[in-house]
Amino acid sequence: PSLVVLISGSGSNLQSLMDAISAGRMTARIAAVISNKADAYGLQRATQAGIPTQIIDHTQFAGREAFDQALQQCIDQFKPDLVILAGFMRILTADFVRHYSGKMLNIHPSLLPLYKGINTHQRVLDDKAREHGVSVHFVTPELDGGPVIMQAKVPVLPSDTAQSLAQRVQEQEHHIYPRVAKWFVEGRLKLEGNQVMLDGNAL
Ligand code: GRF
Repeated sequence: PSLVVLISGSGSNLQSLMDAISAGRMTARIAAVISNKADAYGLQRATQAGIPTQIIDHTQFAGREAFDQALQQCIDQFKPDLVILAGFMRILTADFVRHYSGKMLNIHPSLLPLYKGINTHQRVLDDKAREHGVSVHFVTPELDGGPVIMQAKVPVLPSDTAQSLAQRVQEQEHHIYPRVAKWFVEGRLKLEGNQVMLDGNAL
């Protein structure tokens, strides 16, 4: 099975997927890494691993529709079985999302449905929440609203800054994203309507 991974930044989640593949924990091929930012460090990680990269700079497009169309065209030339959003910081149009219905995953740094959107770590601290975490979900047109597949929790410590909390969450991200991707490429994970199915059972 082949994957296309979309990034905007550091690409540490991309790295965790590449590591899972090279360690033989998951049988898949990353056909391409696509970034909307030319300076995303994840592009270097991909190049180092011999994975083709593409840059589609959203600032060069008149609007979201035009950008998403170009992105879709770019993705589809690789005919991926699965599209993985890994720190891809763009809101996607409903048409784009529907085109990859049941074939696109996202990772979001919160215990969804809590803390959709950005700056989750700081908002968790501001609320004095005692627990935080990360969610992997199927992408649906509602922002960060798609059905959750797997979550990992971390404690919030009194000494935490947004940065220390983010780091604790990221460690969990790197565990759970490859595990979910593995389920998908093994054909064990499906989206039926709004219901996640694992091995034929509702999650
Ligand atoms: C992660 O925290 C992810 O949850 C969020 O963006 C960040 C991406 O980090 N959506 P990286 O680029 O994978 O290192």
